[in-house]
Amino acid sequence: ALVVGRRVRSRRKWKRVVGVLKELEESCETTVGRLKQVVDAMAVEMHAGLASEGGSKLKMLLTFVDSLPSGSEKGIFYALDLGGTNFRVLRVELGGQRSDLDPDVEQQPIPEQLMTGRSEDLFDFIASSLYQFVEKNDSVQSPITKLLGFTFSFPVKQTSVSSGVLIKWTKGFAIRDMAEKEVAGALQQALTRKGLNMRVSVLVNDTVGTLALGHYHDADTVAAVIIGTGTNACYWERTDAIIKCQGLLTTSGGMVVNMEWGNFWSSHLPRTSYDVKLDAESPNPNDQGFEKMISGMYLGDIVRRVILRMSEESDVFGPVSSRLYVPFTLRTPLMAAMHEDDSPELTQVARILKDFLDIPDIPLKARKLVVKICDVVTRRAARLAAAGIVGILKKIGRDGSGGITGGRSRSDIKMRRTAVAVEGSLYTQYTMFREYLHEALNEILGEDIARHVVIIVTEDGSGTGAALLAASHSSENVNNIQ
Ligand code: GLC
Repeated sequence: ALVVGRRVRSRRKWKRVVGVLKELEESCETTVGRLKQVVDAMAVEMHAGLASEGGSKLKMLLTFVDSLPSGSEKGIFYALDLGGTNFRVLRVELGGQRSDLDPDVEQQPIPEQLMTGRSEDLFDFIASSLYQFVEKNDSVQSPITKLLGFTFSFPVKQTSVSSGVLIKWTKGFAIRDMAEKEVAGALQQALTRKGLNMRVSVLVNDTVGTLALGHYHDADTVAAVIIGTGTNACYWERTDAIIKCQGLLTTSGGMVVNMEWGNFWSSHLPRTSYDVKLDAESPNPNDQGFEKMISGMYLGDIVRRVILRMSEESDVFGPVSSRLYVPFTLRTPLMAAMHEDDSPELTQVARILKDFLDIPDIPLKARKLVVKICDVVTRRAARLAAAGIVGILKKIGRDGSGGITGGRSRSDIKMRRTAVAVEGSLYTQYTMFREYLHEALNEILGEDIARHVVIIVTEDGSGTGAALLAASHSSENVNNIQ
């Protein structure tokens, strides 16, 4: 009788856990219908953000990048890429013809204390790394000023292509004295303190760098998306559509707009109680809602929260591990490794749960449950990112919904080939994420249209693209601008 009683109880506990899972699945639901609502909302918010300053949660920031590299750029250029978990310095030699760029790149993690300390310390640290890097490749003493593209992947209110002020920090950075400070100026001062003869000639968001490199390789590239620690997109917009800056004139008639889509919000987004808590406990509550559902900084933490709730409501994970209460203990790469564990016994899952969450020896059934949670969370993220991309295509009339060629039926429409450059570890390193994203693009656009949309993965585009922009905006190259 005792044994039977225990079995009944454990069955009830499973029932409870299954209930939690079901609730999660339901609240993460992303049917094609819902995704299309997100697409529409994205396009509407883009219009609103372009119409007036503060018109939308989408900031739709001007970048002053009014031409994209054409391939004819020449010379040696440097770039510095700051904004994720790592920062990179790179050097690229351009020969005046489009070629496979093979930049020298060095990468290092940003010491955590610098992400929340004083801006001067952060910029001095960066300037020192750059100094050492330049010393290895060129003469630091050279009287010729070297040009530097600075990729700074945070929302910046630009005043020109080479200057701008930080609007707010995202992705866990919190350097107080940077608020309202001129970003390129802060770096320039650190370079001068270090005695480096270098000029910050462009200041760009990582999405903008990625678009520049994407366009360098493939002139059909109209937008760029980053899905890494954070998420964001930029695209090429006609200046007459940027209503908030009436009279904005560029020779090309267009400009790259940094959407800051991480801050996008719509009531159509499938939000769970875990998202609500994650947001409330984050350093930037009510900000970056889209980013918190999609990007690498947060996905693992959503999964942790689900496991914690299940663990509190049942004993399928044994006694509640205290590690489950620690925010960000489950990093997204670990989540991906569990999700993609294809061993029959799910040994990776078991190892990661034990090593990182202090949850040892759980039955296979519970390990499968963890895989399922990862799947639900990642699938939602990838599908929402896909909806965001289609939102951009819709805004610029490249989603096949008519108006471009005047075709009568859907199959009549001749879609122009449209390329979107994508970068970021979530997209490049997490196969399931990538597959779900592509699948959703096909579902939303329909295969006929989706065939014309190519996703191009650029490598180090955020940095290399900044070097290219430093080149195309330098005076020697200015005549070559398209
Ligand atoms: C965050 C930043 C944004 C950046 C993105 C990807 O959303 O605010 O500027 O592009 O992360 O790094």
